Amino acid sequence: MGIEEITGRVARDLEHLKQFTATPGDGCTRLPFTPEARDAVNYLRSIMEEAGLEVREDAAGNIIGVLRGEDSEAPCVMMGSHYDSVYNGGDFDGIAGAVCAVEVARQLKESGITPKRDFVAVGFCDEEGMRFGTGYFGSGAMLGNRDVEYCKKFKDTDGISIYDAMKGYGLDPEKIEDAKWDISRIGEFLEAHIEQGPVLDAENIELGLVDCIVGIQRYMVTVHGRADHAGTTPMDMRMDAVDAATKVISKIPDWAREKADGTVATTGFIRTTPGGMNIVAEKVEFTVDIRSRNNDNINDITNRIRAALDKEVKAMGGSYEMENKLTITPVELSQKMLGIMEEKCKERGYSYKRILSGAGHDALEIGQVIPTVMLFAPSKDGRSHCPVEFTKYSDFAKASVIMAELAKELLA
Ligand code: GLV
Ligand code: MN
Ligand code: MN
Repeated sequence: MGIEEITGRVARDLEHLKQFTATPGDGCTRLPFTPEARDAVNYLRSIMEEAGLEVREDAAGNIIGVLRGEDSEAPCVMMGSHYDSVYNGGDFDGIAGAVCAVEVARQLKESGITPKRDFVAVGFCDEEGMRFGTGYFGSGAMLGNRDVEYCKKFKDTDGISIYDAMKGYGLDPEKIEDAKWDISRIGEFLEAHIEQGPVLDAENIELGLVDCIVGIQRYMVTVHGRADHAGTTPMDMRMDAVDAATKVISKIPDWAREKADGTVATTGFIRTTPGGMNIVAEKVEFTVDIRSRNNDNINDITNRIRAALDKEVKAMGGSYEMENKLTITPVELSQKMLGIMEEKCKERGYSYKRILSGAGHDALEIGQVIPTVMLFAPSKDGRSHCPVEFTKYSDFAKASVIMAELAKELLA
């Protein structure tokens, strides 16, 4: 199969999938356990079936297609990415990697070889954590890291828990642990993804061989003050939750700037309650997302946030909670598989470079316990998590070719 035909197949799938958004004309909004998610899963199911895979949806909402090898008892090669998106995101983040996994299965079939072991293509549920402030739900469930308590604990901003959202979607959260794999059954994990940063595009490089994915901690902080009249309450007699919260929030970026190792920290959500211009806020909720290649940097920033909250909230006279939504350590990817991909890029004449992933991925969750590798396709101008996100279909075709070559070698 030539690169043009492969490009055509990837384009057909991604063009079809991009219509499954809650915000047509304003980017992709495909949150977990919604009608848009269901439509994407149904389409992934249809192309997996078309490719001759054995398909099932698991208890966590992952869609799984198996290409049987000679020995299904042997650990499989798994490849996949997520089908959910952020609010008003692009048409490629995650879903392109899910499509590439199916494309690799097609190429394996077309090659005529019978793989020694199973190849498993997966579309993962809720990698972004957008709706519940969490992340890696489907891949975490596969590793046995999600249970009923977890589903009940985390809620979206409308107060709907993962538990209730799953029920409304037709999944039984009581059975979440059925999604767990015996991890000795997964030999290697592969993920293709868009870079989501500017490096490959700026340097005109065709593929990024990811050697490390940053660790991440996420928090929802709630600062409690007291609602009062904005005009009549003297400055020294108010308990202003905004005053205390913003004193902390404003320091977080500087703490990240002090560190090396790709350290970043972001407050992407702030909400005041009751949210009136002439009412002192009684409550502020804000998120913090901290990332680094070096886990000590993440822990240090977390500790500084706690210390600053202790100080500022005490001075204001209120209280606070800091709820951990996600903790995941950085992961170094498989040198062996990186080496194979490098060879394959050389053979095909594709330009490549080794690269750090500052974005989180299902590969971050799975790579904690399973030999894992990632391959990036360039993002135009590095833009991602926004509607203008763009990657050429031919670049996904190249990524799928390299991944298929790697899979063939692993499965021989
Ligand atoms: C996912 O894209 C993340 O890195 O937050
Ligand atoms: Mn993303
Ligand atoms: Mn992604």
